[in-house]
Amino acid sequence: MGRAENKIAIVTGAARGLGAATATLLVREGAKVLLTDLRDDEGEALARELGRNALYQRHDVSRAEDWDRVMQTCTAAFGSPSVLVNNAGISFFKPLVDLAESDYRQIIDIDQVSVFLGMRAVVPSMKAVGGGSIINISSIAGLVGAPKVLPYVAAKFAVRDMSKAAAIELAPLNIRVNSVHPGFFDTPINARTPDNDAVLSSYTEAIPLGRIGRPEELAHMVLLLSTDEMTFATGAEFVIDGGVTCQ
Ligand SMILES: NC(=O)c1ccc[n+]([C@@H]2O[C@H](COP(=O)([O-])OP(=O)(O)OC[C@H]3O[C@@H](n4cnc5c(N)ncnc54)[C@H](O)[C@@H]3O)[C@@H](O)[C@H]2O)c1
Repeated sequence: MGRAENKIAIVTGAARGLGAATATLLVREGAKVLLTDLRDDEGEALARELGRNALYQRHDVSRAEDWDRVMQTCTAAFGSPSVLVNNAGISFFKPLVDLAESDYRQIIDIDQVSVFLGMRAVVPSMKAVGGGSIINISSIAGLVGAPKVLPYVAAKFAVRDMSKAAAIELAPLNIRVNSVHPGFFDTPINARTPDNDAVLSSYTEAIPLGRIGRPEELAHMVLLLSTDEMTFATGAEFVIDGGVTCQ
């Protein structure tokens, strides 16, 4: 029997990167998973590969009406979800003085407002099934500052803090809410360009374990929080960064 048997989960940003690794591990451990993203080809291909316990739906996480459709699809296909992984996100490097207001608002919408919308959307379903687990993917940039990613840092600190506020409010419903703080992982968000090459190299050099993370390593943390093995953890921060922030 898999560790996530009988779990019904929604994983956002699941077409690639950390979301794809998470959806893959959850399905492998017996969960039924609705994968959502804007990258339809990659999302559909992954869901097909994962088999009948996986389904893909197009979903812009920053739009409330899309969340309504996601809840309807998940309930119709698999049942009421008891796990939500708010994973979708974007980032880009830009010095503070070069940031347009639209840059700032775009990151806040996709990385922060989405998490509020997702939590709000799933609470009635989780309440109906007696509880659940909401896992909000923040970042180590939600714990400490970093240069040239000011809106991202703002959004990821907010995700950390709103996870705590929601954890307290939703505890009476047996809904746990935790934030996960990845360090530097090998995913397309970190694809090297001439602009970011030096910063990404400095990130890698700062990792005590001496390498960047593999997406499956993050997926294992999310799996743990999705199961009934971690039922006393809520409002907590789970850092998985190869030791970067302990220095
Ligand atoms: N990779 C890292 O080093 C790292 C570190 C810390 C935090 N994170 C966080 O982990 C999460 C996943 O990152 P990743 O590295 O897998 O990135 P990624 O770019 O590989 O994957 C992110 C996915 O989110 C999707 N997405 C973007 N905007 C969306 C929207 N509006 N609606 C729906 N889907 C959308 C993308 O299409 C993509 O498939 C993000 O929240 C990111 O901030 C990543």
